[in-house]
Amino acid sequence: MAMGPDVVRIAAVSDIHYSKNSPGALQPLFAEITESADVLVIAGDLTDYGLPEEAKVLARDLTTTVKIPIVAVLGNHDYESGEEAELVKILSDAGVKMLDGDTFETHGVGFAGVRGFCGGFGRGALGAWGEPIIKEFVHEAVNEALKLESALARLHTEHRIAILHYAPIRDTVEGEPLEIYPFLGSSRLEEPLTRFDVTAVFHGHAHKGKPEGATSKGSPVFNVAHPVLKACYPDRPPFRLFEVRTAEVEDAEVTSISERRQRDRRSTDRIASAIEATGENPSPS
Ligand SMILES: [Fe+2]
Ligand SMILES: [Fe+2]
Repeated sequence: MAMGPDVVRIAAVSDIHYSKNSPGALQPLFAEITESADVLVIAGDLTDYGLPEEAKVLARDLTTTVKIPIVAVLGNHDYESGEEAELVKILSDAGVKMLDGDTFETHGVGFAGVRGFCGGFGRGALGAWGEPIIKEFVHEAVNEALKLESALARLHTEHRIAILHYAPIRDTVEGEPLEIYPFLGSSRLEEPLTRFDVTAVFHGHAHKGKPEGATSKGSPVFNVAHPVLKACYPDRPPFRLFEVRTAEVEDAEVTSISERRQRDRRSTDRIASAIEATGENPSPS
């Protein structure tokens, strides 16, 4: 006999760019997330200049308001001052699970996270050819993809969720100037996502991108950059709520893990369902 499915609610946001002047800035949002979700994902650009003082302001707001597990990756802004190790320490000490090729499991859902890197998409992706500095640039994206692949391989949960700062597909950067697409993400990051058939992907970095896309295998990809969510869903709090169903006992009619992932994807994204119901266009103008 099938048991009722458990629902794990994942709240996701990125590019919150905390500065020294931010104390309390996102506390209403964090309070709403604590009420609505079981886990909070923050997909990089936690701070504006990568300064320890900025991370301390964020850590204080998170510890005073968020009462659910928090899992995060760093973004490019968090590297600006060369203090990224100190940022990781401050946020880890505040209870944030910081992922850099690492995994985290909560409520039976597995998370794998990396910062990722840029280099472009599809046929336009930069190749490792020519000058050593070009090869080095490309290898950074390849290394991030390998870290992601290795983290996903270590997860044995029914659902695997990937967290990146840079975009793994072109779809979710659309809306940005075409000239900067190569600096917003890399197709190389998509390969591990399709190999492991992830349940969902959250990323940020493209502040003017599109909120939703999909990998070539149909896994949903969400650009959860705070400015994107504010612009696209002005009548909602700027975070994405994604629900994953974890059944303790398999449904009789839906037997394979792959089928269950497909079913869960279709039925659990609240923002998407609400938009379908209202006919609201999720794309920025
Ligand atoms: Fe950002
Ligand atoms: Fe960024």
